[in-house]
Amino acid sequence: MWTLIGVLLGIVHVAFAAVYLYLTWFHSYWTKRGLVTAQPLTLLGSYPGLFGGGSSFIEDIGKIYNKYKGKERAVGVFLTRQPQILVLDPQLAHEILVTNFSDFRDTVTSSYVTHSKDYDKYVSRNPFFSAGDEWKKHRVDAGAGLTPNKLKQAYAIWEQTGEQLVSFIQSCIEERGSNIIETRDLCYRYTAQAMGDFIWGIDAGSLTGSAKETSSFQRISTEWVTHAFLGMTRLNRTTIAPIVRRLFRMRFFTQAADDFYLKLTRDAAKLRQSGSGGERSDYLAHLLQLQEKGASLDDMVGHALTVLMDGFETSSAVLYHMLYTLGAYPEQQEKLRSEVLAALDVDKRISYEQLNALPYLDQCVYESMRMTSVIGFLLKICTRPTKIDLGNDRILNVEPGVTVAIPAYHFHHDEAYFPQPDEFRPERFDNGAISELTKRGCLLAFGDGPRICLGMRVGLLSVKMALLRILSQYKIEQTKKLSLSSDSGLGMYLNGDVDLRYTRIELSK
Ligand code: HEM
Repeated sequence: MWTLIGVLLGIVHVAFAAVYLYLTWFHSYWTKRGLVTAQPLTLLGSYPGLFGGGSSFIEDIGKIYNKYKGKERAVGVFLTRQPQILVLDPQLAHEILVTNFSDFRDTVTSSYVTHSKDYDKYVSRNPFFSAGDEWKKHRVDAGAGLTPNKLKQAYAIWEQTGEQLVSFIQSCIEERGSNIIETRDLCYRYTAQAMGDFIWGIDAGSLTGSAKETSSFQRISTEWVTHAFLGMTRLNRTTIAPIVRRLFRMRFFTQAADDFYLKLTRDAAKLRQSGSGGERSDYLAHLLQLQEKGASLDDMVGHALTVLMDGFETSSAVLYHMLYTLGAYPEQQEKLRSEVLAALDVDKRISYEQLNALPYLDQCVYESMRMTSVIGFLLKICTRPTKIDLGNDRILNVEPGVTVAIPAYHFHHDEAYFPQPDEFRPERFDNGAISELTKRGCLLAFGDGPRICLGMRVGLLSVKMALLRILSQYKIEQTKKLSLSSDSGLGMYLNGDVDLRYTRIELSK
């Protein structure tokens, strides 16, 4: 009996020792290479929040960032047990994203789908999730439908959706007898309507239907995007033992969503080809052109979902945060309204070029993106042996496969680059400061370099059109203060219902 207990205890000890060794195996990795190490927790690495440790990934990064910034250009951290470089100097971020891009070509997200290429076939066509030459091809194919010229041709879609948005606001107020509208849902509705029309040429029914109901397109898209974004946290956790991805056949997109969007794309393409939908310049037209050059139906669905997935949540979040913020800054709101009203012609219209050229509107949108940072950190992979200059005559040799975290949210909230960072001050971007701060690596609202956001122009167009229409007809006020948190795993978002008051204003034009 005692012998058996002794053997069992021995096995337990050996098992614990093996797990301990496995988890801590790399913990001296950075010290050996001369990089200051932010001491990791034995079992959880540098980001305990990943495993529900009472903090979020962004907060965990923040603790390390605040401890070492200004002292080191980068520190060694551990994503679970995997050695990672946390960049602390924006200029180094610029070198990684732009100057030395070829040494850090891939994103960590691309490593999350290598095991599931056969069955998670649409996400692996998304440039955000692809690597190497495949990334290049997907980026070129998906991006060719998002050029300034293509967006200019499709501009009427946003003009119409902008008008549907203000009509919807009015009917909400009349139907409910209250001018307080939950603005997160409003922004999802607007973006779903614009995306459905642009990508598939459909009326998504989210602004054109009843204010009491959520259209099936909006509901399915919201659930699908939420599932995919939370998948990011799930896959970050599995870095502890990547084999579980394969064992559990983990995937980003659900089979039900794949089936829904496959049918939607097939039906939309058939309708367009039959000629009954009429000629249109939109993303579907671009997908059909790709098909003529040999793209498969799966390629078409993959590109369509790239635009929807990367653009739906991000653009909606930027918009509702922007409206929420303007609701607390009446002076800036009035200044923006004056700019917008002065730009409208007698028919209350504005051209694509003029909309993009409104300076204060641009500054307000960037300032809002700086404050929330819907993608709060960028994760890159070293793709060929390279060196990082750590300063003070120290050079770090970096091996392929090592990952690098760039803390965009923390740069955006660092007093050193953005005085009074919690204040909404669009004037900080006067005189071309957006481009100057981006070049310095401090402002990474859309990332930078060859992997800069592919849909930047679409996102800006969506947000700006909605702001233009809303501000030219309504005054917005906050009804309660909300906190920000990073539950989605990617960025900072407002918690709770975004209830804003919309008061109709008389137009002088
Ligand atoms: C205002 C809304 C948006 C914001 C704030 C935003 C932000 C970003 C950021 C920060 C990145 C860089 C990620 C990295 O370097 O790891 C990114 C990448 C990307 N975004 Fe956006 N995005 C927005 C809208 C869109 C839209 C509308 C689309 C689709 C048309 C889109 C498609 C993409 C794609 C495909 C990538 C990956 C690019 C690559 O790796 O080559 N985004 N976005």
